[in-house]
Amino acid sequence: MSIHYSDETKTITLNTKSTTYQLQVDSCGHLLHLYYGKRIPGDCMDYQYIPMDHGFSPNPYGLRWNRRISMDVLPQEYACANTGDFRTPALELSTDAGAYGADLIYQGHRIEPGKLSLETLPAARAADGECETLLVDLSDEVSGLRVQLRYAVYEARDVIVRSAVLTNGGASGLWLERAASASIDIPFGSWELINFHGRHMMERVEERERLTHGVHTISSRRGASSHQHNPFVVLCERSATEDSGECLGVMLAYSGSFRIDVELDQLNSVRAVAGINDAQFRWRLNPGDSFETPEVFLAFTANGLTELSHIYHNFLRGSVIPARWVNCRRPVLINNWEATYIDFDAEKILAIARKAAAMGVEMFVLDDGWFGHRDDDNSSLGDWFVNERKLPGGLAPLIASINELGLKFGIWIEPEMVSEDSELFRAHPDWALTVPGRAPSMCRNQMVLDMANPAVVEHLYQVISNLLRTQHIEYIKWDMNRNMTDVYSHALPVERQGETFHRYILGVYELARRLTAEFPDVLFEGCSGGGGRFDAGMLHYFPQIWCSDDSDAIERLEIQRGTSFGYPVSAVGAHLSASPNEQTGRAAPFGTRAIVAMSGTFGYELDPDKLTDEEKDSVREQIARFDRYYDLIQRGDYYRLAGPDDNGRFQAWQFAAPDGSQALVNLVVTHTRANFGGIHFRLKGLEPNAMYKLAEHRFEGCRTEFESLRMDDMAHCAQPISGASLMYAGYTLPRMGGDYPSAQLLFVRQN
Ligand code: GLA
Repeated sequence: MSIHYSDETKTITLNTKSTTYQLQVDSCGHLLHLYYGKRIPGDCMDYQYIPMDHGFSPNPYGLRWNRRISMDVLPQEYACANTGDFRTPALELSTDAGAYGADLIYQGHRIEPGKLSLETLPAARAADGECETLLVDLSDEVSGLRVQLRYAVYEARDVIVRSAVLTNGGASGLWLERAASASIDIPFGSWELINFHGRHMMERVEERERLTHGVHTISSRRGASSHQHNPFVVLCERSATEDSGECLGVMLAYSGSFRIDVELDQLNSVRAVAGINDAQFRWRLNPGDSFETPEVFLAFTANGLTELSHIYHNFLRGSVIPARWVNCRRPVLINNWEATYIDFDAEKILAIARKAAAMGVEMFVLDDGWFGHRDDDNSSLGDWFVNERKLPGGLAPLIASINELGLKFGIWIEPEMVSEDSELFRAHPDWALTVPGRAPSMCRNQMVLDMANPAVVEHLYQVISNLLRTQHIEYIKWDMNRNMTDVYSHALPVERQGETFHRYILGVYELARRLTAEFPDVLFEGCSGGGGRFDAGMLHYFPQIWCSDDSDAIERLEIQRGTSFGYPVSAVGAHLSASPNEQTGRAAPFGTRAIVAMSGTFGYELDPDKLTDEEKDSVREQIARFDRYYDLIQRGDYYRLAGPDDNGRFQAWQFAAPDGSQALVNLVVTHTRANFGGIHFRLKGLEPNAMYKLAEHRFEGCRTEFESLRMDDMAHCAQPISGASLMYAGYTLPRMGGDYPSAQLLFVRQN
């Protein structure tokens, strides 16, 4: 039993393997948050809260003679605006009578075995016996609003999944002005906030700052979780490192406009509130209607950022990403985007496929440009029928020829978009998001389809399912190449326009759910101009997401490193692309590019014709190596050994088999220097008492004439070294000269 109730203290305690989370119902019936942190025995944690009078912090009417109780300072589970708490609310409610606020009072709770699903949103799953769920019912007498707070406790995984279901139990209409998924108050401590920010072609860059007073908002108003901010933040102790310190993760399983507020208040307590963005959000609840909020995955560890990442990797892989795909060896693909862009015909495509097949590649992916009359990126989105001028006879003969080469076939599609110049837009202009009377903002000269309109979702389902039924397509790259503006649904009444943003995402989920359920053997890769919608919501349907449109291996070091804080390598779409790189013009060694792309789903995105014979030969070797290391990379524990700020010269990361039997170190020199010392790093995740031997090593792009790596000089290469030495003293390589040389080292346990 991971959930316990004490009638005596009115506390509910949730225990995972290493954490405790505690709630309490106070004398007024408010639901308080007592603790979330390292696991503790059965104490009631209310001794921590000493009621004190704080000026300008109002008191509930029933306690007006006791000025020491105020909603403004009590730690709460789901705070509501306009009823005495001035901090960031989880809920803002208004009624048809124009009254704002709700006073949520505990009505009861129950504990259920297993994990409840959500009807409209992606939800984590649980194996039998893996999880228990606490349901706490609250209600506001005046408005009739009922709130059910849900806490699914994954004991072994150290994760608590929270969400809220809000129901109008009254007789008149209500408006949700803001309805967050979860709010959590942390009364003590000095914290730092880590967020993952970025832009198109540079997503999820780690940024860590001291939490100062005020509200820090990590959010998107773009209709997608966005390149700019990710719906994942970490609060950590100031002293926290990769290997030590308290860290609390808040990950929202949502792919639309979101908002995570982290507030440091007047008394130095922290409140984190996560949920749907309330910008342009207003949800109508008629009597009897319910509203589900997205799930938030909470994780806590006292042992540093690496352990927090492992918790999320294991949780997403075990309970969120489709089980059909998560552990399955996915084909090494070649994608024609950076080789041809939109300018191709069947011959060009087949030439790429032929060469790729000869090099041992396993799947060909036809990217943008195969449909309508798309000769540039100004037209045809929505017209998902083949461009016969480019591909005479349609897709079938092309797919057949590609299959004959021994390659699977995959295709790109951008379902949620429409071009003004398209048959779809001409037939259904009202299917695009446009504000009546106003010319819409264009982006890549395209508009966004109104996924809040069920007719649009149905149309897309018919078109895509038909494509999948009639063609031998084994992979879909589902793109979304602009953010939402002019958010107005022609299918919704005036008073429901505030629902459009969220209904859009519900439409996306519905389409993804129907297609992935009907075609479970089709591999779907999510994409939004690279990683503009890289979140746990999409991962519930698609096992992998194209991580970034920046395929430069050196830029990818930072992008993939930032991504690794929350998301597993098996979800990271990564390809080896041409050098000089198409986005940056940077040249990097072929082998270095492979090492970086291998720390993801691995594929190629280039014209094989432009490869040297030596490079072509290496492709075969790289695929064989990827195969050999597959389990270790995809299922192993991921360690960030050295990042951009750690030494200024190289970055390194490592995979360790969970049983400590093997470890694969990857290292890229980003700034070669003259006359510098050895490259030193410490391994992680090994068995201290076991002996390890360097079983395989590869050095890529090292210029030996610059007194680079000479393995013969390294006596320690041949001899076994204990796990303790490798972890505590470390391992050293001689300096490596040249542009972006790299190393990949496999250590294998000997006993
Ligand atoms: C997005 C994707 C790219 C490519 C193009 C095609 O930018 O991220 O990989 O598919 O669209 O237009």
